[in-house]
Amino acid sequence: MIILQAEKLTHKFPDGTVAIKDIDLAISEGEFIVIAGSNGSGKTVFARHLNGLLKPTSGKILFFGEALAKNIINARKQIGLIFQNSDSQIVGQTVAEDVAFGPENLKTSASQVAKIVAEALEAVDLSQYAKQNPQLLSGGQKRKLAVAGVLAMKPKVIVFDEPFTGLDYPGVRQVLKQLVELHKSGHTIVLITHELEKTLAHADRLVVMDKGRIVLDGLPEEQIYKVAQYGIRLPEIGERGVGAMTWLS
Ligand SMILES: Nc1ncnc2c1ncn2[C@@H]1O[C@H](COP(=O)(O)OP(=O)(O)O)[C@@H](O)[C@H]1O
Ligand SMILES: [Mg+2]
Repeated sequence: MIILQAEKLTHKFPDGTVAIKDIDLAISEGEFIVIAGSNGSGKTVFARHLNGLLKPTSGKILFFGEALAKNIINARKQIGLIFQNSDSQIVGQTVAEDVAFGPENLKTSASQVAKIVAEALEAVDLSQYAKQNPQLLSGGQKRKLAVAGVLAMKPKVIVFDEPFTGLDYPGVRQVLKQLVELHKSGHTIVLITHELEKTLAHADRLVVMDKGRIVLDGLPEEQIYKVAQYGIRLPEIGERGVGAMTWLS
């Protein structure tokens, strides 16, 4: 079942930059897709179209076959986006308030919000920090807080835009573990990252973007050998192949 689909998606900025051009991509429910590409290849601009934060110049996004633009509020709820530099997503005075922000905006009752917040913090293993100032969390914990904020909206799809940037080894492992668990619990995962050696074992599919277009799309073990020509470092591939490319073990 196709959950999210881009059709001839193009975005031209007012200064004339064509950031993405004629992107066709169909994402199936439950899929774990890694999107890689060199800096400026259009990954973030594409991600921002997936939940309606940016409007295409031409083409469209379909969510369960319906134009996403027709119901942006529903799209924002169902398709969660963890931003690049998610630290800037923090809005609450405490960890719990930060997670409550989304559901409160949906006019959920206070008791329901409390329940949702408790579940989301539990899911990312941050319950013990509920009353703490979010600025005091570590980098990895801040990313997990951003994940909790998205989980509180109960989305079907979660898009992670370079979630490992600036994290140390334990931070990367924390966030990656979270991602894999979300996938196991049925979420569709779109992970934007260059860090193929850390993540590819978990992916069903590898998509590579270059100059605003999709240039590779298929099984990780088939596409991996072609990435270098698009400015992505070819990771070391051992005897155990793509299946061993993870920082979880
Ligand atoms: N607001 C903007 N105005 C003009 N050009 C932009 C804007 N945002 C991004 N771009 C350009 O769009 C292209 C794709 O950017 P982006 O999606 O951020 O790349 P990536 O995330 O792959 O590094 C780049 O050339 C970038 O400079
Ligand atoms: Mg980006």
